[in-house]
Amino acid sequence: MKPTIRTLRACVLGCLLAFGAAASATDIEVLHWWTSGGEAKAASQLKAILESKGYVWKDFAVAGGGGENAMTVLKTRVVSGDPPAAAQIKGPSIQEWGAEGVLASLDKVAQVEKWDSMLPKVVADVMKYDGRYVAVPVNVHRVNWMWVNPSVFKQAGVEVPRTWADFPKAAEKIRAAGFVPLAHGGQPWQDFTVFESIVLGVGGADFYRKSLVELNQDALRSKTMEQAFDILASLRADIDPDAPNRDWNQATAMVINGKAAMQLMGDWAKGEFTQAKSQYECYPAPGTDGAFTFNVDSLVMFEQSKADVTQGQLVLASAVLSPGFQKVFNLAKGSIPVRTDLKMDDFDACAQKSAADFKAAAQAGKLVPSIAHQMAVPAATAGAMQDVVTQFFNSPDASSADAVIRLAQAAKVR
Ligand code: GAL
Repeated sequence: MKPTIRTLRACVLGCLLAFGAAASATDIEVLHWWTSGGEAKAASQLKAILESKGYVWKDFAVAGGGGENAMTVLKTRVVSGDPPAAAQIKGPSIQEWGAEGVLASLDKVAQVEKWDSMLPKVVADVMKYDGRYVAVPVNVHRVNWMWVNPSVFKQAGVEVPRTWADFPKAAEKIRAAGFVPLAHGGQPWQDFTVFESIVLGVGGADFYRKSLVELNQDALRSKTMEQAFDILASLRADIDPDAPNRDWNQATAMVINGKAAMQLMGDWAKGEFTQAKSQYECYPAPGTDGAFTFNVDSLVMFEQSKADVTQGQLVLASAVLSPGFQKVFNLAKGSIPVRTDLKMDDFDACAQKSAADFKAAAQAGKLVPSIAHQMAVPAATAGAMQDVVTQFFNSPDASSADAVIRLAQAAKVR
Protein backbone atom coordinates (compact mmCIF):
# COMPACT_ATOMS: atom_id res chain seq x y z
CA MET A 1 0.00 0.00 0.00
CA LYS A 2 1.29 3.39 -0.95
CA PRO A 3 1.66 5.55 2.17
CA THR A 4 -0.68 8.54 2.19
CA ILE A 5 0.04 11.76 4.04
CA ARG A 6 -2.41 10.58 6.65
CA THR A 7 -0.72 7.23 7.28
CA LEU A 8 2.67 8.89 7.29
CA ARG A 9 1.47 11.39 9.85
CA ALA A 10 -0.02 8.67 12.00
CA CYS A 11 3.31 6.87 11.83
CA VAL A 12 5.22 9.94 12.94
CA LEU A 13 3.32 9.97 16.20
CA GLY A 14 2.80 6.22 16.47
CA CYS A 15 6.50 5.54 16.01
CA LEU A 16 7.31 8.33 18.38
CA LEU A 17 5.02 6.97 21.07
CA ALA A 18 6.27 3.46 20.54
CA PHE A 19 9.83 4.70 20.86
CA GLY A 20 8.89 6.67 23.94
CA ALA A 21 7.28 3.64 25.53
CA ALA A 22 10.41 1.59 25.03
CA ALA A 23 12.78 4.18 26.46
CA SER A 24 14.28 2.93 29.65
CA ALA A 25 14.34 5.05 32.76
CA THR A 26 14.43 8.47 31.18
CA ASP A 27 13.66 11.08 33.84
CA ILE A 28 11.10 13.72 32.98
CA GLU A 29 11.24 16.45 35.56
CA VAL A 30 7.96 18.32 36.03
CA LEU A 31 7.69 21.55 38.02
CA HIS A 32 4.28 22.25 39.55
CA TRP A 33 2.66 23.58 42.71
CA TRP A 34 -0.01 20.95 43.16
CA THR A 35 0.52 20.04 46.80
CA SER A 36 -2.89 20.24 48.53
CA GLY A 37 -4.94 17.03 48.96
CA GLY A 38 -7.00 17.34 45.78
CA GLU A 39 -4.12 18.79 43.76
CA ALA A 40 -1.71 16.05 44.80
CA LYS A 41 -4.26 13.42 43.80
CA ALA A 42 -4.55 15.06 40.38
CA ALA A 43 -0.75 15.31 40.03
CA SER A 44 -0.49 11.60 40.82
CA GLN A 45 -2.62 10.92 37.73
CA LEU A 46 -0.11 12.85 35.65
CA LYS A 47 2.71 10.83 37.15
CA ALA A 48 0.83 7.58 36.49
CA ILE A 49 0.24 8.29 32.82
CA LEU A 50 3.85 9.30 32.25
CA GLU A 51 5.13 6.18 33.99
CA SER A 52 2.71 4.00 32.01
CA LYS A 53 4.60 5.19 28.93
CA GLY A 54 7.91 3.98 30.37
CA TYR A 55 9.29 7.26 31.75
CA VAL A 56 10.30 8.19 35.26
CA TRP A 57 8.42 11.10 36.83
CA LYS A 58 10.87 13.38 38.58
CA ASP A 59 8.75 15.45 40.92
CA PHE A 60 9.64 19.13 41.22
CA ALA A 61 6.84 20.35 43.48
CA VAL A 62 7.16 23.85 44.95
CA ALA A 63 4.42 24.46 47.52
CA GLY A 64 2.52 27.75 47.47
CA GLY A 65 -0.98 28.35 46.14
CA GLY A 66 -1.24 30.36 42.94
CA GLY A 67 2.31 29.38 41.95
CA GLU A 68 4.34 32.49 42.89
CA ASN A 69 6.98 30.47 44.74
CA ALA A 70 7.17 27.97 41.89
CA MET A 71 7.80 30.73 39.35
CA THR A 72 10.63 32.19 41.44
CA VAL A 73 12.34 28.81 41.71
CA LEU A 74 11.83 28.17 38.00
CA LYS A 75 13.59 31.40 37.02
CA THR A 76 16.66 30.40 39.01
CA ARG A 77 16.80 27.01 37.31
CA VAL A 78 16.42 28.42 33.80
CA VAL A 79 18.97 31.18 34.40
CA SER A 80 21.48 28.59 35.59
CA GLY A 81 20.97 26.68 32.32
CA ASP A 82 19.23 23.72 33.92
CA PRO A 83 15.50 24.00 33.16
CA PRO A 84 13.12 21.15 34.04
CA ALA A 85 11.63 19.23 31.08
CA ALA A 86 8.16 20.57 31.84
CA ALA A 87 6.75 23.31 34.03
CA GLN A 88 3.29 24.51 34.94
CA ILE A 89 3.24 27.96 33.33
CA LYS A 90 0.16 29.85 32.27
CA GLY A 91 -1.28 32.63 30.16
CA PRO A 92 0.83 35.58 28.95
CA SER A 93 3.85 34.18 30.82
CA ILE A 94 4.05 31.55 28.08
CA GLN A 95 4.76 34.38 25.63
CA GLU A 96 7.37 35.84 27.97
CA TRP A 97 9.21 32.51 28.20
CA GLY A 98 8.83 32.03 24.44
CA ALA A 99 10.56 35.35 23.85
CA GLU A 100 13.52 34.08 25.92
CA GLY A 101 14.04 31.40 23.25
CA VAL A 102 14.12 28.54 25.76
CA LEU A 103 10.93 26.64 24.88
CA ALA A 104 10.58 23.42 22.87
CA SER A 105 8.05 23.09 20.06
CA LEU A 106 5.22 20.59 20.47
CA ASP A 107 4.06 20.99 16.88
CA LYS A 108 5.02 17.42 15.92
CA VAL A 109 2.29 16.12 18.23
CA ALA A 110 -0.08 19.04 17.83
CA GLN A 111 -0.30 18.69 14.06
CA VAL A 112 -0.79 14.94 14.06
CA GLU A 113 -3.42 15.11 16.78
CA LYS A 114 -5.07 18.21 15.31
CA TRP A 115 -4.97 20.29 18.46
CA ASP A 116 -6.23 23.29 16.52
CA SER A 117 -9.59 21.64 16.00
CA MET A 118 -9.61 19.81 19.33
CA LEU A 119 -9.11 22.87 21.57
CA PRO A 120 -11.21 26.00 22.03
CA LYS A 121 -9.50 28.79 20.08
CA VAL A 122 -9.27 31.00 23.17
CA VAL A 123 -7.17 28.25 24.77
CA ALA A 124 -5.13 27.24 21.69
CA ASP A 125 -4.00 30.83 21.13
CA VAL A 126 -2.50 31.02 24.61
CA MET A 127 -0.55 27.78 24.09
CA LYS A 128 1.34 29.07 21.03
CA TYR A 129 4.38 31.26 20.73
CA ASP A 130 5.11 32.64 17.30
CA GLY A 131 2.56 30.28 15.75
CA ARG A 132 4.06 27.11 17.30
CA TYR A 133 2.60 25.12 20.18
CA VAL A 134 4.99 25.40 23.13
CA ALA A 135 2.53 24.36 25.84
CA VAL A 136 -0.13 21.74 26.32
CA PRO A 137 -3.30 22.70 28.25
CA VAL A 138 -4.36 20.41 31.05
CA ASN A 139 -7.75 21.71 32.13
CA VAL A 140 -10.08 24.67 32.48
CA HIS A 141 -10.63 26.04 35.97
CA ARG A 142 -13.42 28.51 36.67
CA VAL A 143 -12.37 31.14 39.18
CA ASN A 144 -15.67 32.96 39.85
CA TRP A 145 -17.15 30.33 42.15
CA MET A 146 -18.49 30.52 45.68
CA TRP A 147 -18.29 27.30 47.71
CA VAL A 148 -20.96 26.79 50.32
CA ASN A 149 -21.59 24.52 53.27
CA PRO A 150 -25.38 24.01 53.00
CA SER A 151 -25.79 22.84 56.58
CA VAL A 152 -24.26 26.06 57.94
CA PHE A 153 -26.76 28.06 55.91
CA LYS A 154 -29.56 25.87 57.20
CA GLN A 155 -28.49 26.36 60.81
CA ALA A 156 -28.21 30.12 60.27
CA GLY A 157 -31.65 30.13 58.63
CA VAL A 158 -30.56 32.19 55.66
CA GLU A 159 -30.47 31.88 51.87
CA VAL A 160 -27.20 31.84 49.93
CA PRO A 161 -26.55 35.44 48.78
CA ARG A 162 -26.56 35.72 44.98
CA THR A 163 -25.72 39.43 44.74
CA TRP A 164 -23.36 41.74 46.59
CA ALA A 165 -26.40 43.70 47.79
CA ASP A 166 -27.64 40.57 49.60
CA PHE A 167 -24.25 39.57 50.97
CA PRO A 168 -23.99 41.75 54.13
CA LYS A 169 -27.42 40.70 55.47
CA ALA A 170 -26.66 37.02 54.96
CA ALA A 171 -23.21 37.42 56.53
CA GLU A 172 -24.73 39.15 59.55
CA LYS A 173 -27.09 36.24 60.21
CA ILE A 174 -24.33 33.69 59.74
CA ARG A 175 -22.14 35.56 62.23
CA ALA A 176 -25.04 35.80 64.71
CA ALA A 177 -25.46 32.02 64.46
CA GLY A 178 -21.82 31.56 65.52
CA PHE A 179 -20.12 30.84 62.18
CA VAL A 180 -17.46 32.62 60.14
CA PRO A 181 -19.28 33.99 57.06
CA LEU A 182 -16.32 33.88 54.69
CA ALA A 183 -13.39 31.46 54.88
CA HIS A 184 -10.32 33.27 53.61
CA GLY A 185 -6.57 32.93 53.62
CA GLY A 186 -4.75 36.22 53.90
CA GLN A 187 -2.28 35.79 51.05
CA PRO A 188 -2.01 38.37 48.26
CA TRP A 189 -3.16 36.00 45.48
CA GLN A 190 -6.21 35.01 47.52
CA ASP A 191 -7.16 38.67 48.08
CA PHE A 192 -6.75 39.24 44.34
CA THR A 193 -8.87 36.16 43.53
CA VAL A 194 -11.72 37.52 45.64
CA PHE A 195 -11.28 41.01 44.19
CA GLU A 196 -11.52 39.92 40.55
CA SER A 197 -14.78 38.12 41.29
CA ILE A 198 -16.11 41.28 42.95
CA VAL A 199 -15.15 43.36 39.89
CA LEU A 200 -16.94 40.87 37.64
CA GLY A 201 -20.00 40.89 39.90
CA VAL A 202 -20.21 44.66 40.17
CA GLY A 203 -19.28 45.70 36.66
CA GLY A 204 -20.09 42.67 34.48
CA ALA A 205 -17.88 40.99 31.87
CA ASP A 206 -17.43 44.04 29.63
CA PHE A 207 -16.24 46.18 32.52
CA TYR A 208 -13.97 43.38 33.74
CA ARG A 209 -12.42 43.08 30.28
CA LYS A 210 -11.96 46.79 29.89
CA SER A 211 -10.41 47.32 33.30
CA LEU A 212 -8.54 44.11 34.17
CA VAL A 213 -7.59 42.82 30.71
CA GLU A 214 -7.30 45.88 28.47
CA LEU A 215 -6.15 47.99 31.45
CA ASN A 216 -8.19 50.97 30.32
CA GLN A 217 -7.26 53.87 32.61
CA ASP A 218 -10.78 55.34 32.74
CA ALA A 219 -12.29 52.00 33.71
CA LEU A 220 -9.61 51.46 36.34
CA ARG A 221 -10.30 54.89 37.90
CA SER A 222 -14.09 54.63 37.62
CA LYS A 223 -16.78 54.73 40.28
CA THR A 224 -17.54 51.10 39.45
CA MET A 225 -13.98 50.14 40.44
CA GLU A 226 -14.34 52.23 43.61
CA GLN A 227 -17.47 50.28 44.43
CA ALA A 228 -15.54 47.02 43.98
CA PHE A 229 -13.00 48.26 46.56
CA ASP A 230 -15.85 49.26 48.90
CA ILE A 231 -17.20 45.72 48.75
CA LEU A 232 -13.76 44.24 49.31
CA ALA A 233 -13.40 46.50 52.36
CA SER A 234 -16.75 45.30 53.72
CA LEU A 235 -15.50 41.69 53.64
CA ARG A 236 -12.91 42.45 56.33
CA ALA A 237 -15.76 42.05 58.84
CA ASP A 238 -16.76 38.67 57.42
CA ILE A 239 -13.45 36.82 57.81
CA ASP A 240 -11.87 35.55 61.03
CA PRO A 241 -8.78 37.08 62.71
CA ASP A 242 -6.62 34.06 61.86
CA ALA A 243 -6.90 34.57 58.09
CA PRO A 244 -3.45 36.15 57.55
CA ASN A 245 -1.07 33.68 55.86
CA ARG A 246 -3.59 30.86 55.89
CA ASP A 247 -3.32 28.61 52.84
CA TRP A 248 -6.33 28.43 50.55
CA ASN A 249 -6.95 24.76 51.30
CA GLN A 250 -7.02 25.45 55.04
CA ALA A 251 -9.71 28.02 54.30
CA THR A 252 -11.59 25.38 52.30
CA ALA A 253 -11.25 23.07 55.31
CA MET A 254 -13.14 25.63 57.40
CA VAL A 255 -16.11 25.28 55.03
CA ILE A 256 -15.72 21.49 54.99
CA ASN A 257 -15.66 21.34 58.81
CA GLY A 258 -18.68 23.60 59.19
CA LYS A 259 -16.75 26.43 60.82
CA ALA A 260 -17.35 28.80 57.91
CA ALA A 261 -20.24 29.23 55.51
CA MET A 262 -18.60 30.22 52.19
CA GLN A 263 -15.35 30.57 50.30
CA LEU A 264 -14.76 32.58 47.12
CA MET A 265 -12.27 30.43 45.26
CA GLY A 266 -11.68 28.70 41.94
CA ASP A 267 -12.85 25.13 41.48
CA TRP A 268 -9.56 23.59 42.63
CA ALA A 269 -11.37 23.99 45.99
CA LYS A 270 -13.77 21.27 44.85
CA GLY A 271 -10.85 18.85 44.81
CA GLU A 272 -10.67 19.34 48.60
CA PHE A 273 -14.41 18.77 49.11
CA THR A 274 -14.43 15.59 47.05
CA GLN A 275 -11.23 14.34 48.68
CA ALA A 276 -12.83 14.88 52.12
CA LYS A 277 -16.11 13.35 50.85
CA SER A 278 -17.90 16.30 52.41
CA GLN A 279 -21.08 18.06 51.34
CA TYR A 280 -20.76 21.24 49.28
CA GLU A 281 -22.69 23.45 46.93
CA CYS A 282 -21.33 25.76 44.27
CA TYR A 283 -22.74 29.09 43.13
CA PRO A 284 -21.28 31.61 40.75
CA ALA A 285 -19.70 34.39 42.86
CA PRO A 286 -22.35 37.03 43.70
CA GLY A 287 -23.60 38.86 40.63
CA THR A 288 -21.58 36.76 38.17
CA ASP A 289 -24.16 34.26 36.90
CA GLY A 290 -23.55 33.60 33.20
CA ALA A 291 -20.03 35.06 33.25
CA PHE A 292 -16.92 32.90 33.49
CA THR A 293 -13.36 33.79 34.54
CA PHE A 294 -11.16 31.09 33.08
CA ASN A 295 -7.85 29.78 34.34
CA VAL A 296 -6.20 27.16 32.16
CA ASP A 297 -3.38 25.11 33.66
CA SER A 298 -0.78 24.18 31.10
CA LEU A 299 2.56 22.46 30.90
CA VAL A 300 5.28 24.29 29.04
CA MET A 301 8.24 22.28 27.75
CA PHE A 302 11.78 23.63 27.94
CA GLU A 303 14.37 22.81 25.27
CA GLN A 304 16.54 19.90 26.38
CA SER A 305 19.89 18.63 25.24
CA LYS A 306 19.04 14.91 25.50
CA ALA A 307 17.00 13.40 22.64
CA ASP A 308 15.20 10.89 24.87
CA VAL A 309 13.97 13.70 27.13
CA THR A 310 12.76 15.65 24.09
CA GLN A 311 10.80 12.62 23.00
CA GLY A 312 9.45 12.16 26.49
CA GLN A 313 8.10 15.71 26.34
CA LEU A 314 6.12 14.86 23.20
CA VAL A 315 4.81 11.68 24.79
CA LEU A 316 3.76 13.62 27.88
CA ALA A 317 2.05 16.29 25.78
CA SER A 318 0.11 13.67 23.85
CA ALA A 319 -0.89 11.82 27.03
CA VAL A 320 -2.16 14.97 28.73
CA LEU A 321 -4.79 15.49 26.05
CA SER A 322 -5.89 11.86 25.90
CA PRO A 323 -9.57 11.38 26.87
CA GLY A 324 -8.76 8.96 29.70
CA PHE A 325 -6.31 11.32 31.35
CA GLN A 326 -8.54 14.35 30.88
CA LYS A 327 -11.25 12.54 32.82
CA VAL A 328 -9.31 11.17 35.78
CA PHE A 329 -7.19 14.27 36.21
CA ASN A 330 -10.07 16.72 36.14
CA LEU A 331 -12.28 14.62 38.39
CA ALA A 332 -9.56 14.96 41.04
CA LYS A 333 -8.61 18.56 40.29
CA GLY A 334 -12.12 20.06 40.33
CA SER A 335 -11.68 21.54 36.85
CA ILE A 336 -13.26 20.51 33.53
CA PRO A 337 -11.56 18.86 30.55
CA VAL A 338 -10.00 21.28 28.11
CA ARG A 339 -11.23 19.16 25.21
CA THR A 340 -14.80 20.11 24.42
CA ASP A 341 -15.62 16.77 22.76
CA LEU A 342 -15.73 14.73 25.98
CA LYS A 343 -18.86 13.55 27.78
CA MET A 344 -19.40 15.09 31.21
CA ASP A 345 -21.61 12.26 32.55
CA ASP A 346 -19.19 11.17 35.25
CA PHE A 347 -18.63 14.71 36.54
CA ASP A 348 -20.58 16.36 39.35
CA ALA A 349 -23.23 19.07 38.89
CA CYS A 350 -20.70 21.89 39.45
CA ALA A 351 -18.41 20.65 36.67
CA GLN A 352 -21.38 20.10 34.37
CA LYS A 353 -22.53 23.65 35.04
CA SER A 354 -19.00 24.90 34.48
CA ALA A 355 -18.78 23.14 31.09
CA ALA A 356 -22.18 24.49 29.98
CA ASP A 357 -21.41 27.98 31.27
CA PHE A 358 -18.01 28.00 29.53
CA LYS A 359 -19.68 27.49 26.15
CA ALA A 360 -22.56 29.86 26.83
CA ALA A 361 -20.28 32.57 28.22
CA ALA A 362 -18.03 32.31 25.16
CA GLN A 363 -21.02 32.86 22.90
CA ALA A 364 -22.37 35.73 24.97
CA GLY A 365 -18.99 37.51 25.19
CA LYS A 366 -18.84 36.83 28.94
CA LEU A 367 -15.80 34.58 28.99
CA VAL A 368 -12.89 36.49 30.52
CA PRO A 369 -9.36 35.51 31.62
CA SER A 370 -8.49 35.50 35.33
CA ILE A 371 -6.05 38.26 36.25
CA ALA A 372 -5.28 36.75 39.65
CA HIS A 373 -4.27 33.46 38.01
CA GLN A 374 -1.92 34.87 35.40
CA MET A 375 -4.23 34.58 32.41
CA ALA A 376 -4.95 38.22 31.62
CA VAL A 377 -1.90 40.51 31.69
CA PRO A 378 1.90 40.20 31.97
CA ALA A 379 3.09 38.83 35.31
CA ALA A 380 4.80 42.09 36.37
CA THR A 381 1.61 44.09 35.78
CA ALA A 382 -0.59 41.58 37.58
CA GLY A 383 1.89 41.52 40.47
CA ALA A 384 1.85 45.31 40.86
CA MET A 385 -1.95 45.40 40.77
CA GLN A 386 -2.17 42.53 43.24
CA ASP A 387 0.05 44.49 45.64
CA VAL A 388 -2.39 47.42 45.54
CA VAL A 389 -5.37 45.17 46.26
CA THR A 390 -3.72 43.31 49.09
CA GLN A 391 -2.35 46.47 50.74
CA PHE A 392 -5.81 47.99 50.56
CA PHE A 393 -7.44 44.92 52.07
CA ASN A 394 -4.94 44.88 54.93
CA SER A 395 -5.25 48.59 55.75
CA PRO A 396 -8.60 49.22 57.42
CA ASP A 397 -8.25 52.99 56.96
CA ALA A 398 -7.47 52.89 53.22
CA SER A 399 -9.86 54.75 50.97
CA SER A 400 -11.38 53.29 47.81
CA ALA A 401 -10.92 56.60 45.99
CA ASP A 402 -7.14 56.40 46.55
CA ALA A 403 -7.05 52.69 45.76
CA VAL A 404 -8.42 53.11 42.23
CA ILE A 405 -5.72 55.69 41.44
CA ARG A 406 -3.01 53.37 42.76
CA LEU A 407 -4.51 50.47 40.81
CA ALA A 408 -4.48 52.52 37.60
CA GLN A 409 -0.83 53.44 38.20
CA ALA A 410 0.11 49.83 38.90
CA ALA A 411 -1.55 48.82 35.61
CA LYS A 412 1.22 50.74 33.78
CA VAL A 413 3.96 48.53 35.23
CA ARG A 414 5.53 46.19 32.65
C1 GAL B 1 -4.05 28.20 40.40
C2 GAL B 1 -3.81 26.97 39.57
C3 GAL B 1 -4.59 25.84 40.09
C4 GAL B 1 -4.42 25.67 41.58
C5 GAL B 1 -4.47 27.00 42.34
C6 GAL B 1 -4.09 26.91 43.80
O1 GAL B 1 -3.32 29.27 39.92
O2 GAL B 1 -4.21 27.24 38.26
O3 GAL B 1 -4.24 24.67 39.40
O4 GAL B 1 -3.24 25.03 41.82
O5 GAL B 1 -3.65 27.96 41.74
O6 GAL B 1 -2.75 26.58 43.96
